[in-house]
Amino acid sequence: MKENKFKVKTICCIGAGYVGGPTMAVIASKCPNIKIYVVDLNDERIARWNSNDLSDLPVFEPGLDKIVSQCRDKNLFFSTDVNNSIKEADMIFLSVNTPTKAKGIGAGQASDLKWIEASARQVAEFAEGKTIVVEKSTLPVRTAETIKQILSSSRKNSNEEQHNQEFSVLSNPEFLAEGTAIKDLQNPDRILIGGEDESSIEALAEIYQNWIKDEKIIRTNLWSSELSKLTANAFLAQRVSSINSIAALCEATGANVNEVSNAIGRDSRIGNKFLKAGPGFGGSCFKKDILNLIYLCKFYGLQEVADYWEGVLKINTWTQNRISKAIVQKLFGTVSGKKIAILGFAFKADTNDTRESSAISICSNLIEEGANLWIYDPKVNPKQIELDLNIQSSCKESISSWNTSDSIIEAAIDSDAIVVLTDWEQFKYVNWEEVSSVMRSPSWLIDTRNIVNHENAISSGLRVWRIGIDN
Ligand code: UDX
Ligand code: ADP
Repeated sequence: MKENKFKVKTICCIGAGYVGGPTMAVIASKCPNIKIYVVDLNDERIARWNSNDLSDLPVFEPGLDKIVSQCRDKNLFFSTDVNNSIKEADMIFLSVNTPTKAKGIGAGQASDLKWIEASARQVAEFAEGKTIVVEKSTLPVRTAETIKQILSSSRKNSNEEQHNQEFSVLSNPEFLAEGTAIKDLQNPDRILIGGEDESSIEALAEIYQNWIKDEKIIRTNLWSSELSKLTANAFLAQRVSSINSIAALCEATGANVNEVSNAIGRDSRIGNKFLKAGPGFGGSCFKKDILNLIYLCKFYGLQEVADYWEGVLKINTWTQNRISKAIVQKLFGTVSGKKIAILGFAFKADTNDTRESSAISICSNLIEEGANLWIYDPKVNPKQIELDLNIQSSCKESISSWNTSDSIIEAAIDSDAIVVLTDWEQFKYVNWEEVSSVMRSPSWLIDTRNIVNHENAISSGLRVWRIGIDN
């Protein structure tokens, strides 16, 4: 391996969210000689990253608290001092949020790049000497070009000589999945680095080589790297929509979606991962990235390709609506005034993240139908649920209401149905006999994840509906 001249000593990561926080914690733990500043404008978030109470970190990820406690204030620092951290760094990761645009050109499809642009401008203003700028957030293809333009225009400013600025832009998309972020970061399938300048690519590769074999590091041009991230997420989401569409067909025909998944997953060309039927995919990436892909296709006149990917999103929304309809139908065609216990609000297990969670639309649909929901999630903050449901629900005036619960049993008291929406491990081991005894009869258990012990539930007197199995 060639020795690279440019050595990274100080990293600044702009954005202390679900990507920036865990990624930098793992880099800090693997590279004790690199000093890492994770900075954010949100001072409450930074205060929580610095909290002595490690259960209060703003991101819940198994194993994250341990790493933060080992590295924090040694070579890992969380701060709101964005400008000085930029000044000190020779490598800057952009890990800011890039949600779908709410208004203007491309609204509902294109990513809103205002946070990326703002942080690139800050880098342009405060960076000194040679600085490698790394795109970490998922971004539309050719965003690196925008970043380059912002950075190069700053060089025309009068401070050029004073700061001796030199920039190189890399794309290094993050493939971690929430809930398994630490494991994914410590042992990734691959690392993707896109760029034009070999020395910068190797400087970043050298950081990863501290714990990852070089054969896992893929070097590409900038655009391939950006497009690969969108494509990977689109393919994963497509698998989920595919199995969810087949789940509906299983219910109609008497097939069992678990059996079908197992049978097709044994084909090594298909593989057995990402074949679990559920209430529809959520999370901050899948929908946003497919919308980006659709926008890109339309921009380049590829309407048929755009329509193809749009189908993946349509099946997802249809799946969410299909579940709310099934619940209403099971409860004799009306849920008005009925108490329903909701188990799980996060978009998947082992995270406190609710972004795009199917629970939001399913709960909103049920509230609109007049149901009274009691929501239990082991990790999601009740304030977040309130935020999500108030944004989504347009029926504050109606008789319906919702509450959060501290336990499954509290949520279940006097309820007509229990709906499992998130695949939390603890839902596999519920004592249905105990739960059933406090519910109103006839009582339903709706399992949208196929994880409950349904035999125990049925023998406890519950009527059970499992996605892709029962109709
Ligand atoms: C995803 C990608 O996996 C990751 O590589 C990328 O960096 C970010 O986006 P994430 O959103 O954290 O990660 O979660 P993921 O595990 O991919 O699950 C996404 C959604 O699909 C969840 O709602 C999950 O419950 C659902 N899902 C996943 C299924 O319904 N069935 C499956 O078989 C797999
Ligand atoms: P992700 O899942 O991509 O990590 P998050 O929303 O969890 O997204 O985190 C992005 C973080 O970036 C937020 O905490 C936000 O406050 C921060 N952020 C956005 N713009 C800037 C900026 N210009 N400077 C510093 N932090 C920023």
